[in-house]
Amino acid sequence: MDDLGAIAWPPAPVTTGRLVLRAPEARDRAAFVELFASPEVNAYVGGPRQREVLERELPEVPEQWPGSFVVELDGAMIGHVLLRRATGHRRPAAAGKLDLGYLFLPRAWGLGYATEACTAALDWLTGALPGEPVVLTTQSANAGSMRLAAKLGFTEVERFEAWDAEQWLGMRPPANRIADRE
Ligand SMILES: CC(C)(COP(=O)(O)OP(=O)(O)OC[C@H]1O[C@@H](n2cnc3c(N)ncnc32)[C@H](O)[C@@H]1OP(=O)(O)O)[C@@H](O)C(=O)NCCC(=O)NCCS
Repeated sequence: MDDLGAIAWPPAPVTTGRLVLRAPEARDRAAFVELFASPEVNAYVGGPRQREVLERELPEVPEQWPGSFVVELDGAMIGHVLLRRATGHRRPAAAGKLDLGYLFLPRAWGLGYATEACTAALDWLTGALPGEPVVLTTQSANAGSMRLAAKLGFTEVERFEAWDAEQWLGMRPPANRIADRE
């Protein structure tokens, strides 16, 4: 994965009706530990990491890179939205394209926060880097993630086997092409 190139980072915080998206800060570290150590969160993304190892090894400000958004509700982190360039993606259809990822703490599931945050991140991306499609890879067994991908406008490119599971590769056309169809 590569960064997003010559975009201004960190951006001004992105606000939605209920949420704020912003660059990570030191005060988010405990929530990152919780996120990466959670068996539920990591069930379809490689499994949880050991809390003690995370406590020891995570940097003071975790996940500090352009396109890495902490999602905040009422002043506390509830999730992480990731926009990266998929330079090393194993599927040619996705290689080099912008890639969306998302991880939310279980207590924030089922309330529409992931939809709200990812929509705002994609809108921000359209403003920062217009005209680019976005790809998304998820296990097809990850029902919540598959529903979210569909709500965000991703459609199937292909399914493939990797990491001992069926993976779903979706793509979202650039915003101008969505507007063209309306
Ligand atoms: C994937 C993941 C982000 C989805 O979270 P989520 O909370 O289900 O996603 P949404 O924001 O789309 O919320 C949707 C649900 O909120 C409900 N909801 C409640 N209030 C709502 C509101 N005000 N607005 C919208 N939806 C609302 C919807 O009805 C919907 O329920 P449903 O999924 O039963 O249909 C979450 O499960 C997660 O973090 N999983 C672990 C990490 C992971 O696997 N990531 C994928 C890696 S590719």
